[in-house]
Amino acid sequence: MIRQVVVAGGTGEVGKQLLALLANRPEVSVRALVRRPGALPSAPNLEEILFEYEDVTAYGPAFAGPCDLLLIALGTTRAKAGSDEAFLRVDRDYPLRLISAMATLHPEGRVGLVSSVGADGGRGLYLGAKAEVEAEVQASGLAHVIVRPSMLRSKRDEFRLMELASDLLLAPGILALGRGLLPRSRGWWRWAPVHVREVALALLTSVLDLKPGEGRILEGLDLHPGPIASWGKP
Ligand SMILES: NC(=O)c1ccc[n+]([C@@H]2O[C@H](COP(=O)([O-])OP(=O)(O)OC[C@H]3O[C@@H](n4cnc5c(N)ncnc54)[C@H](OP(=O)(O)O)[C@@H]3O)[C@@H](O)[C@H]2O)c1
Repeated sequence: MIRQVVVAGGTGEVGKQLLALLANRPEVSVRALVRRPGALPSAPNLEEILFEYEDVTAYGPAFAGPCDLLLIALGTTRAKAGSDEAFLRVDRDYPLRLISAMATLHPEGRVGLVSSVGADGGRGLYLGAKAEVEAEVQASGLAHVIVRPSMLRSKRDEFRLMELASDLLLAPGILALGRGLLPRSRGWWRWAPVHVREVALALLTSVLDLKPGEGRILEGLDLHPGPIASWGKP
């Protein structure tokens, strides 16, 4: 039974969806690690924990209480981070520290990780970071679900050219073509843009269903349920 959840990245696009889903589960207590107080809409089962990711001594105390599940939806962009090193701290080092603390203090627990399509190839700054974190999750002994979305669709406030172009220009055609002609094509749906709601729902549903020590990777069709039926925006 999952009662205590820690969420890292709850203020992000996928993270907000995870917290919204968890808000409908009053039996679960959620501790969201945040950089700024008041960053999240309040919910009766939600506690914000002001967290300093750079402080290596902060990770143990964050998991000192009971914790059944750690959800990681952290991430930045190279442009936003300002350097390769700063990018890697967010996309690789902080998740590695969280997983290590969870595995040490709650080895019977579970992890849900938002990774990326292509992480199995694992080359370059972005995918290399994702691959390292995935490998750590898999080696941790923790039951886990890794989701590998393609380009995310959301109502992000921040301007991201690639995401906007994908959402407005590519996504409608790709999704309509896939639904019409290639509804079960693993290759097509692996790379199709996917809404953050679908990513969060697939991750949470799967991670709550895990057996002890089990590991799952979700991508493509796993994140696009019912591609034939849902013609409208998800
Ligand atoms: N965007 C895409 O198309 C795409 C595609 C495939 C996979 N992904 C992956 O999916 C995951 C979730 O993506 P998303 O778009 O939901 O992320 P997002 O909206 O950019 O949210 C990122 C989260 O990471 C936190 N964060 C960023 N920089 C930080 C720092 N320096 N220190 C501590 N926390 C920091 C943010 O906190 P603050 O609110 O405090 O900044 C936020 O909670 C990421 O790992 C991303 O790489 C994204």
